[in-house]
Amino acid sequence: MTPPIAAAFQERFGEPPEFVVRAPGRVNLIGEHTDYNDGFVFPLAIERAVWIALRMRTDGQVHVTSLSLGETATFDAAHPERGEPAWAEYLKGSAWAMQATGQPLVGWEGVLTSDVPIGAGLSSSAAIELATMRAFAATSGIAWEPATMARLAQRAENEWVGVNCGIMDQMISAVGKRGHAVLIDCRSLETRAEPLPSGTSVVILDTATRRGLVDSLYNERRAQCEQAAATFGVTALRDVTLAELTARKGELDPMTFRRARHVVSENERTLAAAAAMRAGDARELGRLMNESHASLRDDFEVSSEALDIMVEIAQSRTGCHGARMTGAGFGGCAVALVDAGLAGSFATEVAARYTERSGLVPMIYVTGASAGAAVEDVK
Ligand code: GLA
Repeated sequence: MTPPIAAAFQERFGEPPEFVVRAPGRVNLIGEHTDYNDGFVFPLAIERAVWIALRMRTDGQVHVTSLSLGETATFDAAHPERGEPAWAEYLKGSAWAMQATGQPLVGWEGVLTSDVPIGAGLSSSAAIELATMRAFAATSGIAWEPATMARLAQRAENEWVGVNCGIMDQMISAVGKRGHAVLIDCRSLETRAEPLPSGTSVVILDTATRRGLVDSLYNERRAQCEQAAATFGVTALRDVTLAELTARKGELDPMTFRRARHVVSENERTLAAAAAMRAGDARELGRLMNESHASLRDDFEVSSEALDIMVEIAQSRTGCHGARMTGAGFGGCAVALVDAGLAGSFATEVAARYTERSGLVPMIYVTGASAGAAVEDVK
């Protein structure tokens, strides 16, 4: 099937695109605020994605039009410079990170579209970065190594865009596997894909709340984790067990102890969740998701009233195995694992009850797991 993006390209350029690339957003099933502690995460690439249809240019320039915004950005792939429009910083940062490895980049022109909601915590920025890199890899003949590209995309986000994120979002957008969640070891970047339990659906519940200051709250949590790791004399909290943490509780102030307890217990839950999925045990997986939410709410304190309401409603519905906040927190989305046959009615009922309690209208997406960043076959 020719995606609409290829038709949009044809209309604009009068010929079919040379390449169509796609990179997905993500939702994390479990393993939250563990990536920057060298720990484990268990996300899946969602069906919503960024698409770019393009053809090569010979002058090293990139000309890209966002179809949803109706804006065109232009930059030199070898020497990108900051400037308007703001959305182009993700593309420029990706070019900057790639060319810093010494590989010359061939420019391109094309059209871009995305159905990953912006600012909802579903990694729309990682999807743009990986789509951009996939485009450059295609035009420039650069071998596509997903983990290497994810590291470069994280560098773009950290150093060009200026957001101090971990590796999870870029990694899952690169390595996603259709029908699977992917256990990622954020230290070694080893991955293991596990099939979603048959008969279940992943439901994303957007609270329709966004909170400012997320970056500074996120950085504060990172600093608390680093402080705890330093107290234990280890590189990262990944290297601490729950038994060690409990035995040396007195060495940390009570808040830092709770932050560390979340990370250390979440790593254990994440490994247990991957094992439960391998065994096809949706119930156990759901139980671990519920525990994760409690830990994020009480120990790590990154939930919010809206997220707690959403999760509580979801957890109380028939057919829901488990639910939790997902992503950085403070607002944005929750995720639930639900019996596939009940996903439709679950979505309707949760939406109605959430509106009753919060006065807000949520967005709800039932999603399968999709593949990571790739050049699509549009023939
Ligand atoms: C954001 C960051 C990720 C990760 C999560 C929390 O999504 O971009 O790197 O730290 O928060 O798990």
